[in-house]
Amino acid sequence: MSRLVIGILGSGKGSNCRAILEQISAQKLAADARLVVSDVFDAGILDIAREFGVPNAYLPPGKFRTRLEPAVEMELVKMLETAGVDLVVLAGFMRVLKEPMLNAFPHRIINLHPSLLPKFPGMEAWRQALAAGEKLTGCTVHYVDAGIDSGEIIAQRKVPVLPNDTPESLHARIQTAERKLYPEVISRFCGP
Ligand code: GAR
Repeated sequence: MSRLVIGILGSGKGSNCRAILEQISAQKLAADARLVVSDVFDAGILDIAREFGVPNAYLPPGKFRTRLEPAVEMELVKMLETAGVDLVVLAGFMRVLKEPMLNAFPHRIINLHPSLLPKFPGMEAWRQALAAGEKLTGCTVHYVDAGIDSGEIIAQRKVPVLPNDTPESLHARIQTAERKLYPEVISRFCGP
């Protein structure tokens, strides 16, 4: 059975991308990361890709704030297809994907979100959970559909909210859980 080829998209520091690439390097995850793409020129995720020797690219997103310009999104499809990507892994990618990506990779794009969806979709979900007085929150991996953080849920991991939590301390605890959950979920897409 051939190895699962993944492409990782992210806009931020890339700690989840690092966790995935570490698991691949340690041969605990039978996948090949063939491409890392960011819409942010100086995103940490691109440095991490370079550190691990994974081909990487900055993709200028165009004039919109929350999505890619259609021509840019078509270019992204081409890049991922050329790299032979089976599964698109969103790791802190802060733009909504539209038809070009959704049609090219049906049921083959997954996202990581820092809450127990369907609670708290959208931005800074840990802040939302804290403000709502939740005692329990967590993280979710789900398929990407046309909505915002609304696709079919694949797996979740629970994280307690502690009495003295600040947004930062809660976010850090959720991110620790994310770095365990995401590689584990990706491994389910790999062959035996
Ligand atoms: C992660 O916490 C992920 O859950 C969140 O971005 C962070 C990326 O961190 N994604 C979303 O909020 C998507 N709606 P990282 O760059 O250190 O991996």
